[in-house]
Amino acid sequence: MTKLWGGRFQKSAEAWVDEFGASIGFDQQLVMEDLEGSIAHVTMLGAQEILPVEDVAMILDGLKQLQVKAEAGELEFTVANEDIHLNLEKMLIDLIGPVGGKLHTGRSRNDQVATDMHLFLKKRVAEVIGLIENFQKTLLIQAEQHVETIAPGYTHLQRAQPISFAHHLMAYFWMLERDKQRYQESMKRIDILPLGAGAMAGTTFPIDRLKSAELLGFANVYANSMDAVSDRDFIVEFLSNSSLLIAHLSRFAEEIILWSTDEFKFIELDDAFSTGSSIMPQKKNPDMAELIRGKSGRVFGNLMGLLTVLKGTPLTYNKDMQEDKEGMFDTVHTVLGALKIFDGMVATMTINTKRLHAAVHSDFSNATELADYLATKGMPFREAHEVTGKLVFTCIQRGIYLLDLPLEDMKVESELIEADIYEVLAPEAAVRRRNSLGGTGFEQIKIQLEKAKACLF
Ligand code: ARG
Repeated sequence: MTKLWGGRFQKSAEAWVDEFGASIGFDQQLVMEDLEGSIAHVTMLGAQEILPVEDVAMILDGLKQLQVKAEAGELEFTVANEDIHLNLEKMLIDLIGPVGGKLHTGRSRNDQVATDMHLFLKKRVAEVIGLIENFQKTLLIQAEQHVETIAPGYTHLQRAQPISFAHHLMAYFWMLERDKQRYQESMKRIDILPLGAGAMAGTTFPIDRLKSAELLGFANVYANSMDAVSDRDFIVEFLSNSSLLIAHLSRFAEEIILWSTDEFKFIELDDAFSTGSSIMPQKKNPDMAELIRGKSGRVFGNLMGLLTVLKGTPLTYNKDMQEDKEGMFDTVHTVLGALKIFDGMVATMTINTKRLHAAVHSDFSNATELADYLATKGMPFREAHEVTGKLVFTCIQRGIYLLDLPLEDMKVESELIEADIYEVLAPEAAVRRRNSLGGTGFEQIKIQLEKAKACLF
């Protein structure tokens, strides 16, 4: 089989060498984008009278036929034609004859492949943003139902202070909000068209790059043809934004896993998002959450992979850059899947409010209340901390909690403590009174939920 670039060659590479160099195994995922790019390119060539109208009509007709076949999954790609660009060009020529060979006028695979990647990411990033929003809505719905559900809040994974369970869920809402913003802001840089840069120096044909940009719906074109074919920043940025997103999902996954244990039992995952064990009949495993936690590894890896590919490459295009694709496809696939699964998992999980209630009533997470109480009465906070610590110690020795400690025993440490301390120590009061901006107090949560809605609707 002769190569589309075979003129200069005296002999062909062996099949196994071609196999190593080929990208068709994975870049066939760009089939729709490649055809879209070609349609715009040849339309522009026609408008500029670089190609005669009848040639343009034939090429457009051929490309549209290929689109139909691609949608039906009827295209058969071959390693002998190396990549998606040469495969499609060969198919076009087979379909409409030698006139198909005019499509590549004023274009190189270097600006072509970069164009495909920009088109591809534009669509996928929009999808990611949509799924983040769906997940945020789910979090908001769950949070609204659990404003008054008191739960233990942790630092160092030790009981710290009581919180509204809604507050905990909403912490993830805001992480996702920043993730979404990062993707949205990155769109500005994805929305730049490389087409027309040629191999790297531009072209001698009187092309109209702005026309191509308009046809493909790009806001901008690269100002420098060398930069246009060398730039993979927009992919690195996508992989980086995705790394942060999956890091957030992974932390949340870890909490879902902990909360599902018998030790915590704060939530129960729906059967639809859990799996059983092949040997232990009693088991219900949070596999989906574990898998998302685990998949963070490949997403971080894809980021490191591409940075490493790029770091020593001289300008402009180098075959190294073919390695930009699999990591990007993999990250797109992973992130879209993880968001969908997580959304479903959180929407269907049961929150064990009784268990959460019992948890905060059997710990010392109200100790800060006592210290704050004393500080409010004028005792320096450092001293109040010491006094409270001593009372906690007394309780531990007696096997009771602060609310069970009689007033006279409290007064041993400070005369400032009065009977009203018991209302202050109630976990519900501890939450209610944390009314500082962004705090867990019920009033603040309501303000927070309003702010969150404003981000979505
Ligand atoms: N398959 C190639 C890639 O993905 C397309 C660009 C090839 N360009 C070239 N000059 N060999 O990077």
